[in-house]
Amino acid sequence: MAIQWFPGHMNVTKKAILERIKDIDVVIELLDARLPGSSANPMLAEMTGTRRKLKVLNKQDLADPERTEAWLAWYSAQSDTAAIALDAGDTAPAQRLIKACRELAPNRGGMDKPLRVLICGIPNVGKSTLLNTLVGKKAAKTGDEAGVTRIEQRINLASDFYLFDTPGMLWPKILVEQSGYHLAGSGAVGRNAYDEEEVALELLHRLKGPYAQLLAARYKLTFPLADIPGAHDDALLEEIGRRRGAVMAGGRVNLQKAAEIVINDFRSAILGRITLETPPEFEAWVAEAQVR
Ligand code: G4P
Repeated sequence: MAIQWFPGHMNVTKKAILERIKDIDVVIELLDARLPGSSANPMLAEMTGTRRKLKVLNKQDLADPERTEAWLAWYSAQSDTAAIALDAGDTAPAQRLIKACRELAPNRGGMDKPLRVLICGIPNVGKSTLLNTLVGKKAAKTGDEAGVTRIEQRINLASDFYLFDTPGMLWPKILVEQSGYHLAGSGAVGRNAYDEEEVALELLHRLKGPYAQLLAARYKLTFPLADIPGAHDDALLEEIGRRRGAVMAGGRVNLQKAAEIVINDFRSAILGRITLETPPEFEAWVAEAQVR
């Protein structure tokens, strides 16, 4: 079963972004550093056209540093695009974002030509956290404050630096089957859109190659992963369940519980710092999806 998740209202958002984009110099797209390709909304590229772009890989504290570097290099090689990685809760890195925007649009600045920046990102990517860090306060979710609407929120980060929040919700649009699993694994899609066991199996499938040692260490797997009977992900999930005590009366492993353990361990980075996709992998999935 492929994960289908596109809750709608995207047309309203699209219209609002197209309206707003006319007065925007730089578009920040906030991505999840653990799944940069999958956490992007491909419709945004169409909407923002030739505007300068800053890709912000958020949650870098949870992601694999080597793969983050690879993604930063990949984005930076694209025209009119810069990329930085940060943790949304950290003040100093968040400030780098302001510098990066100014560098992307050096002809803007000063009271008569303020720099106008639009920040976009799918839900759960960390936009509220980042905005709160940038304005230096611990506030509620963006748009929850009295008198602040989601439609037209503007934050003045300096007298000549205006940051506009996305008008509306930028939902993920799942073009590639793999992205559905990665988004579900990260917690970006609603719980009702996926089957936990299936997502955990897919996570294990992705992890057992590049991150076999992390799996072995966390779950005290004493044998090489390749030696699991048939080297099947099902057998791996079952073994993890057994190791973590997810066993029902009669000794059978509770696979649902085992799946929850794997997903939670990934999300909280208890497993370690993991990035689910590399630029070449993501490019290959997109190319394959286009052929189909
Ligand atoms: P959103 O506005 O884009 O929907 O996302 P939001 O800021 O609400 O962040 C979603 C979750 O991601 C929150 O966790 C938040 O703490 C976490 N988060 C955001 N940025 C980072 C980051 O750079 N690193 C890490 N490790 N986590 C980050 P939550 O569990 O949903 O809520 P909370 O109780 O932690 O606030």
